[in-house]
Amino acid sequence: MPARLPGVDTLGDLAGKRVLVRSDLNVPIDGTKILDDGRIRASVPQVQALRDAGAKLVVCAHLGRPKGGPDPRYSLAPVAARLGELLGTDVPLVTDLSSYDGSADVALLENVRFEPGETSKDDAERASYADRLAALADLYVDDAFGAVHRKHASVYDVARRLPHAAGALVAHEVEVLDRLTTDPQRPYVVVLGGSKVSDKLAVIESLLPKVDRLLVGGGMCFTFLAAQGHDVGDSLLEADQVGACRRFLETGKVLLPTDVVVAAEVSADADPKVVAADAIPAGQKGLDIGPDSVAEFAAALADARTVFWNGPMGVFELAPFAAGTRGVAEAIAGLGEQALTVVGGGDSAAAVRALGVDETRFGHISTGGGASLEYLEGKSLPGLAVLLED
Ligand code: 3PG
Repeated sequence: MPARLPGVDTLGDLAGKRVLVRSDLNVPIDGTKILDDGRIRASVPQVQALRDAGAKLVVCAHLGRPKGGPDPRYSLAPVAARLGELLGTDVPLVTDLSSYDGSADVALLENVRFEPGETSKDDAERASYADRLAALADLYVDDAFGAVHRKHASVYDVARRLPHAAGALVAHEVEVLDRLTTDPQRPYVVVLGGSKVSDKLAVIESLLPKVDRLLVGGGMCFTFLAAQGHDVGDSLLEADQVGACRRFLETGKVLLPTDVVVAAEVSADADPKVVAADAIPAGQKGLDIGPDSVAEFAAALADARTVFWNGPMGVFELAPFAAGTRGVAEAIAGLGEQALTVVGGGDSAAAVRALGVDETRFGHISTGGGASLEYLEGKSLPGLAVLLED
């Protein structure tokens, strides 16, 4: 970000002010059970600081991708309860904007994506919802780093209607990501995983010239292995990305797994086998990187001074395919003070926590998935650009 984002301190005295806070509370939920509350916990310091300053808060957020109408599967009710626990106060869930009387110290609006105006491509439709949101408050604070790449009413349009500032979480995320793009300490090693090359194409294009090594695991490594001419059995393959992978390989900076864990099915009861990456049997799917690859990746990380990791190395949610992600997480965490280590993305952050790797051993765990990737691509993100407007 070239210009400095206005911080909350620019908003003046907050005592008695009504502040609309946009947070990213998009957490994985099973029924009503929150599987990973990382984003809720990350939102608490700014919310608490605003309360301490005497403001009355209306927090707004999205959950999942409902289809523009109320859907109980995407209700923020469990999130309101968890936020209340963390803040030590009751956080009512506001389902109807017009009847909200502003009496609570902190209230949470029901999923903003239940309103078609939130995500609409039509400026007027978004504007009309943004007007209703803006009417709830005197000031706006955007602390939803994970959503700043969305041109949505609660992220973008509402900031044009109220005096606004970036929350501390957004400011910190931007500051850390800037260190990855502006003169990073070398060697600079990026580790990418996740299922699709197509999702990461733009970030690979933009990072490859800047990094010293790019380690590729996860479902996307099979398209790279295919680009090297190997048979990948039934593994994930994006045939239309093979050409791009070949071009990336020509830089000589890409390191691929040497062995992979395969099974016939993606199942916790699968009978996994470790095979050489260039000898995946027909009918088998590669579902994790193997132990030699973990050692190879750990060696490639050993002298790093800057590391960015996005995307799991395998299907870490299932025990037979978790070792690769755990091994890489340990290798990165083990760098300690030697390197700036940044974990980007909802999935990798959730993997770190689900696998029980101590979060404090990483320099920074970003709350943004798509947002951190788009930031590193050098794109202008609507939710940040709007905060720079008067
Ligand atoms: C995320 O999970 O990356 C953010 O909350 C944004 O969600 P979205 O991709 O549904 O806009």
